[in-house]
Amino acid sequence: ESTTELDISAIQPGQAVKAVFRKQPVFVRMLTEAEIAEADAVSLGDLREPETLADRTLEGHENVLVTMGVCTHLGCVPLGAAEGENKGEYGGYFCPCHGSHYDTAGRIRKGPAPTNLVVPDYTFTTDTTIVIG
Ligand code: FES
Repeated sequence: ESTTELDISAIQPGQAVKAVFRKQPVFVRMLTEAEIAEADAVSLGDLREPETLADRTLEGHENVLVTMGVCTHLGCVPLGAAEGENKGEYGGYFCPCHGSHYDTAGRIRKGPAPTNLVVPDYTFTTDTTIVIG
């Protein structure tokens, strides 16, 4: 029912913003070319939940990673979306509650979380506007 509209024009490559969607945190991250390459270099066999970056982004907008900011272990808010926060060993997000590390595609790589960060339903309504939900 409720949707969240976000203007993403000010997010620079390598930066992320935190927003709120249905009372839960959501992260929107502009990936750098290096972060995209890093995600694409991982073989699916090394992933707990095998998904490519392309599976987790929208066509033509593979540099925009939208995920819930909710660790799939026990629901803490991972670090890595705000300036200077620990992005973990795989350069994405790090959940300090019990040490889950997510990569630049928001995929679980190490620690107790069972699945990748959830990608909510969203669409681009302009090149710089997304609507989540
Ligand atoms: Fe994130 Fe446990 S809630 S590692």
